[in-house]
Amino acid sequence: MSLDIVILAAGQGTRMRSALPKVLHPVAGNSMLGHVIHSARQLQPQGIHVVIGHGADAVRERLAADDLNFVLQDKQLGTGHAVAQAVPGLSADNVLILYGDVPLIEVATLQRLLQKVSADQLGLLTVNLTDPTGYGRIVRDGDGQVQAIVEHKDASDAQKAIKEGNTGILAVPGKRLAEWLARLSNDNAQGEYYLTDVIAMAVSDGLVVATETAQDPMEVQGANDRRQLAELERHYQLREGRRLMALGVTLRDPARFDVRGDVTVGRDVLIDVNVVLEGRVVIEDDVVIGPNCYIKDSTLGRGVVVKANSHLDGAVLHEGSDAGPFARLRPGTVLEARAHVGNFVELKNARIGEGAKAGHLSYLGDADIGAGSNIGAGTITCNYDGANKWKTTIGEDVFIGSNNSLVAPVDILAGATTAAGSTITQEVPEGQLAVARTRQRNVEGWKRPVKIKKP
Ligand code: UD1
Ligand code: CA
Repeated sequence: MSLDIVILAAGQGTRMRSALPKVLHPVAGNSMLGHVIHSARQLQPQGIHVVIGHGADAVRERLAADDLNFVLQDKQLGTGHAVAQAVPGLSADNVLILYGDVPLIEVATLQRLLQKVSADQLGLLTVNLTDPTGYGRIVRDGDGQVQAIVEHKDASDAQKAIKEGNTGILAVPGKRLAEWLARLSNDNAQGEYYLTDVIAMAVSDGLVVATETAQDPMEVQGANDRRQLAELERHYQLREGRRLMALGVTLRDPARFDVRGDVTVGRDVLIDVNVVLEGRVVIEDDVVIGPNCYIKDSTLGRGVVVKANSHLDGAVLHEGSDAGPFARLRPGTVLEARAHVGNFVELKNARIGEGAKAGHLSYLGDADIGAGSNIGAGTITCNYDGANKWKTTIGEDVFIGSNNSLVAPVDILAGATTAAGSTITQEVPEGQLAVARTRQRNVEGWKRPVKIKKP
């Protein structure tokens, strides 16, 4: 069965009080609409049609992709009118309707719903609510068969007592949809063309309306204001936390853990509180991440330890290496196996060889450091001359004394030593000691200045 998906995203979202179109507001680092598109793609439809209106240009610009067909709804005359705008582009057997501001809908739920749609049946996703205020109500007959959806504002008191609400998500046989939409009227409390009126039409045409129920109301919750946005964010994070725990991760506190991207994990991983993982993060077995770490687009090999308050972006840490507390690993950082990076060390485009160490207070940029070398505290690479960046190469088993300035481009060959406080501007040959600082001079009989008395 072929599938077209229509995503409604034309509404204004006044209650967000924002210059940003509602559907572009982020949940877990991706726009709400981005989440819906991501789920839609997993159903492998022949077409994804996004109905846009308010902030249409911004939405199109942000989410443009070859597989998306943006359809403009000039005036927001109702959900039925919105879907009707997409009809000319629809040709599949089934049409699934989703919403750009309902980001947590799960693919498995949609698959269950799609199984219900056929030439003589449509699938409706409902939700049981303690307070269904505002929702369309599912009206069933004595046999429990769905007869219609009545919008809250059009409902009688008896209908308002119904706790089963319409999520808005439905799957419809494509052939019938166009004719039903063409028959909609806006003769109702809101003067809108209601998509929900399609249900009664389907029933009177002899179709059965099969329902699927969302187990968790948050899955079908939309965000109309920032409070609801925050609720969706937390819900997403708890769901992601549960997923990772099921895979063998210990989260010290799932309520203080955030994922904003794709995370893959091994077993026996320990993640302390206030850790934010962003982009594509790969965490292998036995990794330990201390509290307050931000880790983006990075790979942590088996047994890696990232200590408290470290900031990683675009770093690859190989097996058994460790960083922090307070390490800053910028794009292009590679820690080879068992390398050690300590506190207040900033690395950028730098490879720290196997077992090599940079323990304290360093900046190493555009550098390659050989296995087993030691970088003294306070050492920096002077990699930038104000116009270009240059490379520092340090061989194996080098000992760089404390507080060195390594003026790139410069090579320090294997087994060399540099004296503390040196400014290294030339190659240091293999095994030699470089001392590049002025000699100490002691002044005998030195008198300290005395404080001048104020009149
Ligand atoms: C709709 C349903 C209601 C359901 C509720 C769930 C209808 C008539 N009612 O009501 O049964 O319980 O959702 O939240 O469908 N939109 C457009 N263009 C329009 C109108 C709406 O793109 O012309 C989009 C909005 O941006 C929004 C979504 O459709 O994302 C729902 O529209 P909204 O007006 O909020 O519908 P509800 O009144 O909540
Ligand atoms: Ca709504």
